Amino acid sequence: MSETKILLTEKEMPKQWYNIQADLPKPLPPVLHPGTGKPIGPEDLAPLFPMALIQQEVSQERWIDIPEELQEIYKIWRPSPLIRARRWEKALNTPAKIYYKWEGVSPAGSHKPNTAVAQAYYNKKEGVKRIATETGAGQWGSALSFACNIFDLECKVYMVRVSYDQKPYRRIMMETWGAKCVASPSTDTQAGRDILAKDPNSPGSLGIAISEAVEDAAKRDDTKYSLGSVLNHVLLHQTIVGLETQKQFEKVGEYPDVVIGCVGGGSNFGGFAMPFARDKITKHKKTRIIAVEPTACPTITRGLYRYDFGDTACTTPLLKMFTLGHNFIPAPIHAGGLRYHGMAPIVCHLHVLGLIEAVAYPQNPCFEAAISFARTEGHIPAPETAHAIKAAMDEAIRCRETGEAKIIVFNNSGHGHFDLGSYQKYLAGQLEDYELPEEKIKESLASLPNM
Ligand SMILES: Cc1ncc(COP(=O)(O)O)c(C=O)c1O
Repeated sequence: MSETKILLTEKEMPKQWYNIQADLPKPLPPVLHPGTGKPIGPEDLAPLFPMALIQQEVSQERWIDIPEELQEIYKIWRPSPLIRARRWEKALNTPAKIYYKWEGVSPAGSHKPNTAVAQAYYNKKEGVKRIATETGAGQWGSALSFACNIFDLECKVYMVRVSYDQKPYRRIMMETWGAKCVASPSTDTQAGRDILAKDPNSPGSLGIAISEAVEDAAKRDDTKYSLGSVLNHVLLHQTIVGLETQKQFEKVGEYPDVVIGCVGGGSNFGGFAMPFARDKITKHKKTRIIAVEPTACPTITRGLYRYDFGDTACTTPLLKMFTLGHNFIPAPIHAGGLRYHGMAPIVCHLHVLGLIEAVAYPQNPCFEAAISFARTEGHIPAPETAHAIKAAMDEAIRCRETGEAKIIVFNNSGHGHFDLGSYQKYLAGQLEDYELPEEKIKESLASLPNM
């Protein structure tokens, strides 16, 4: 029998990130200044980000070197394994081969440190002392806390209230790495105080937490802002995941027919899928690439492709993306990291170009799929990842019906060890599915800026 775990040596770890901007058949729409409606320049972003990251954001170079110091840090958990889910295949009685790229091996337990350490590195190099950020599920906040600790940077995390209450151990993890974490909306910022004045019980949202972190960074000279998803440079850093996966498939002489990832802001999916999308553009591969989102926050499947703010308080530049409107507050589903009103502009652009597909699932069937996976493969996935698992399971079941032996791979973006409260609710039959009424989407889309 062939191998179950396909491993790369540290020497085989990719030494460059892949920038899809160099291969896009049509360039990305520009990012616009909310005041002038004109494309923004590097100086507009300089108060928030170090110049190296701003350059990566707009770079048209196909390959960007991973600094050696960073490669050394990546070696703490990279290269991550590509695993054949043989027991799950058997349980699903499918002729398909199912593989998963396992990002739960990082210190924070997800793909998020791949960009956290890169962002902390470039901030440190440019003399920044402190970083402010938001976190949905707590995965990003803990990844950045870990990264800031490595580079001796202060870190302040605004954590979406609903996750802060659901996952106290994520906060303790951040504090263990030396960061400060508050529930968002908080009283520490004007944006937070304004929301609390309107709704003292606000469950929070990623859009609100981003407003708080941006305000924090804009007000202090020693502080920059860091975003864990959505932006081009974040997806760029995550391409190490897809590039490793391609090398691992080369080792076993295979190539996937179906590539799947869950989407919150689009970073684990983007980083995993873009090297495969490149093969579709340059080698005319027929791979199906599927982004999976929750029906409670169906950004690509039900949102509009328009210019919108990345945050609730309208402080960010305008991004062309699928959006549910920056005021949209998703229902408190347990996949906190998928509760974002917008989507990475690159992921949206790939969808508009017909290079990727999108599907949406309610949370109960995702937990059902995650449990089927956990009972055969062992690993308990994060609720976000459970969405990718559900899509992989559906593909495998379709193969059972058609008899096709397709090769399916999904990005297993993180473990769910801090999400056991949600598993407990699912097992007790207490987990709600939220169908989003059309009126709620219409109401929220009414807030879109008129560009
Ligand atoms: C495990 C895991 N997967 C996926 C996501 C979704 O984010 P993104 O779309 O940026 O990968 C998150 C976000 O917190 C996460 O924690």
